[in-house]
Amino acid sequence: MVTPNELLAEIDGIGRDRTRGGYSRHVFDHAELELREWFTAQASARGLTVLPDGNGNLWAWWSDPGDDAVVTGSHLDSVPGGGRFDGPLGVVSALSAVDRLRAEGFRPSRPLAVVVFAEEEGGRFGVPCLGSRLASGSTAPETALGLRDESGTTFAEAMSAAGMDPRLAGPDPANLGRVGRFVELHVEQGRGLIDRGSAVGVASTILAHGRWRFRFTGQGNHAGATPMGDRADPMLPAAGLVPEARSAALRFDDARATVGRLRPNPGGTNVIAESVDVWLDARAHRDADTRALVDELSGRAEELAAQEGCSVRVSEESYADGVSFDSGVRDELTALLGAPALPTGAGHDAGVLSARTPAGMLFVRNPTGISHAPQEHAEQDDCTAGAEALTEVLRRWSR
Ligand code: GLV
Ligand code: MN
Ligand code: MN
Ligand code: MN
Repeated sequence: MVTPNELLAEIDGIGRDRTRGGYSRHVFDHAELELREWFTAQASARGLTVLPDGNGNLWAWWSDPGDDAVVTGSHLDSVPGGGRFDGPLGVVSALSAVDRLRAEGFRPSRPLAVVVFAEEEGGRFGVPCLGSRLASGSTAPETALGLRDESGTTFAEAMSAAGMDPRLAGPDPANLGRVGRFVELHVEQGRGLIDRGSAVGVASTILAHGRWRFRFTGQGNHAGATPMGDRADPMLPAAGLVPEARSAALRFDDARATVGRLRPNPGGTNVIAESVDVWLDARAHRDADTRALVDELSGRAEELAAQEGCSVRVSEESYADGVSFDSGVRDELTALLGAPALPTGAGHDAGVLSARTPAGMLFVRNPTGISHAPQEHAEQDDCTAGAEALTEVLRRWSR
């Protein structure tokens, strides 16, 4: 029986980001493909049959795939410079849980699978949970296949380069239809479990969240030869949007608005940009608040752009409604584990799946309260407690 920490240690060297710190593991890049190979080998060594689907997700079946299956899993990709646990902890805990069940001689009375979802972070192609969204039909294959990464490579091209057939991408009722219940274990991404003094928790809700791109366009020009009064510099409204996002979020109940990425085009120190892309991540409890916040900021962006003789175009890159996890699952898990229920502001594949199947999540305490950064952490004992909790859930659901 291998512990989650022993498994995490095996993949520590894969996808380390020497520049940013932490890990950069993006869907179908060298590191993520190496992690997929590692997962396939680990699952196979446990006697699981790994069946890749058409959307870049990997399904590892304990016995033959079948209906009313109990499924657990998470993702192996990361944000740029992400932490060690976000995603992989759920995958290694699933493998560790399989070990524990096998060591007990447990035989599931229904199909059981471990799944690895593709592009959960949207770190390469911009749409989070792309693998589960494609499978569930909430993102159309025509949209997904045409998404481009920073270098202009499409998702379809990246799939092909990784040996997959992009023509197979799209709604996958065969696999998703088999999922009777889903549980995802994840490192907690805030301070909820620190405050509650508990190693493990159960998710109650996920904020409504989405991503929007604001493209400010002006006139590219020479930084030295263009007088200050003779410019249409899109960097000014782009920069102005950042404090506006914070003020707007503060006007709504527990909303969040973040500009974590901004790209001037062409991006030269002595060049007034031709255009600037600003990506906004906005979240709130209520869908209506998330929408209203973005509408407000879109209006403000128009004003800021006009003041500088620039224009702006706003496009939605992804959106996910708020999630309330199945109350039956949530109550069962909190009672079974004696663990508190808590909300999260982070998106997850379990949230996507919850629209069609009873789903729940287990969180493992993160003593730094920091995530999407190298300081993300989980203590060894808490990881073990998480794997034991997951084992308990899988045993209960599949016996
Ligand atoms: C994914 O982790 C997200 O919620 O951004
Ligand atoms: Mn994440
Ligand atoms: Mn995650
Ligand atoms: Mn996430």
